[in-house]
Amino acid sequence: MSNMPKVEMAPAKGRLGILTPGMGAVATTFIAGCIAVSKGLGKPIGSLTQMGTIRLGKRTDNNVPMIKDFVSLAGLDDLRFGGWDLFEENAYEAAVHAGVLDKNLLDQIKPELEAIKPMKAVFDKKYVKKLDGTYVKEADTKWDLAQMVMDDIKQFKEDNDLDRVVMVWCGSTEIFLKPGAVHQSVAAFEEGLKNNDPDIAPSMIYAYAAVKMGVPYANGAPNLSCDMPAFYELAKETGTPICGKDFKTGQTLMKTILAPGFKARMLGLGGWFSTNILGNRDGEVLDDPDSFKTKEESKLSVLEQILQPEVYPDLYKDFYHKVRINYYPPRGDNKEGWDNIDIFGWLGYDMQIKIDFLCRDSILAAPIVLDLALFLDLAKRCNFSGIQEWLSFYFKSPTTLPELYPEHDIFIQLMKLKNTLRYMKGEDQITHLGADYYEYYQ
Ligand SMILES: NC(=O)c1ccc[n+]([C@@H]2O[C@H](COP(=O)([O-])OP(=O)(O)OC[C@H]3O[C@@H](n4cnc5c(N)ncnc54)[C@H](O)[C@@H]3O)[C@@H](O)[C@H]2O)c1
Repeated sequence: MSNMPKVEMAPAKGRLGILTPGMGAVATTFIAGCIAVSKGLGKPIGSLTQMGTIRLGKRTDNNVPMIKDFVSLAGLDDLRFGGWDLFEENAYEAAVHAGVLDKNLLDQIKPELEAIKPMKAVFDKKYVKKLDGTYVKEADTKWDLAQMVMDDIKQFKEDNDLDRVVMVWCGSTEIFLKPGAVHQSVAAFEEGLKNNDPDIAPSMIYAYAAVKMGVPYANGAPNLSCDMPAFYELAKETGTPICGKDFKTGQTLMKTILAPGFKARMLGLGGWFSTNILGNRDGEVLDDPDSFKTKEESKLSVLEQILQPEVYPDLYKDFYHKVRINYYPPRGDNKEGWDNIDIFGWLGYDMQIKIDFLCRDSILAAPIVLDLALFLDLAKRCNFSGIQEWLSFYFKSPTTLPELYPEHDIFIQLMKLKNTLRYMKGEDQITHLGADYYEYYQ
């Protein structure tokens, strides 16, 4: 038995509402998938909350429950879905449009999907240049828009008889913005909302509405959204868990699986060239250089952080890293990502690795949305607030306190996540030391 203190964890009673600003490919694949799984039409592959296990105690204890049996999580039948978009299509139409899931499957859950209609978006073309839509809220100030989103959240909660709500940004990638003066404190941010400060993008208005109301918020795109001191402060004030940024799928997922392996074996890296073709709306938005810049920053930082060139100059100093995304409509959501990796080994001898990943972006992202929603709700029930670094596992650019560097290594991230679950339940941390089984000293 462990001597660790247990965190107070309120049980997951009643219904959980999941709101997504943006109801495109990722959001509809997530929603349709949850409904399909609930009806026994498919399996929640890729979701740690639904399929993962967690070891407790010693290996000889053979105590490895499912994560969903170990911590109290909302069940799929207790989820209700809603969101906002600048296109008025309901979730069925949007899912057909996105073309990720078979129409045959979508038709089997058509009534449930048709009932999910987006609310009017907070949108400004200045921040996503490739999109145009008319299903958009109108108000004099960004402050008023935030109040309207809060009203939407209250109404959604009432209409669906919900116990709790979480929000996951599944909207398009906004243009690159650097944190400025308006992002430094709650007071400055609220002043900025009232003055229509141009450094406040729509995603920040949704995030503000959520966090102000104590609704946990995750950001699935690379734009700043809630990643700034004003939100770290507000989240603490309102007791709200927040996390981001940019769902870790596709090429970056591969990078954070492979790079820790190279470093573990002290293999050098000369260069890593990554290019993609994709033809979905996300690809179209990323065809705009300003939106691409946001994505590029998010994708580039990963290798530097994992490989630590300053600690291992012989292996990683000056490696060349290039990331390209090309919009190619015929490919739709079925992206193709190529990587050419130049590595070197013993005495500096060169080797090459080529990856051709025929992936489905939204199929990889949907289980992440589910896990984030369920874990954020769990965090809230444990009275956790502020940045949830233990959810870094799901992100390309994990949000951390400014004085900390983000941990990108997926295996460290997973250990951190599982140890956080053990911590919540007062179980011993697992260090993998193994000294319990061997007598190292005679
Ligand atoms: N699919 C992946 O693997 C993956 C991985 C990492 C990040 N992402 C990010 O997730 C986001 C969603 O991806 P997707 O493939 O679903 O894209 P998508 O283009 O299919 O869907 C995005 C939706 O957001 C809507 N939208 C844009 N601005 C909005 C606003 N202000 N308010 C409400 N709705 C708004 C768009 O109209 C669109 O329907 C993108 O930012 C993408 O970069 C996706």
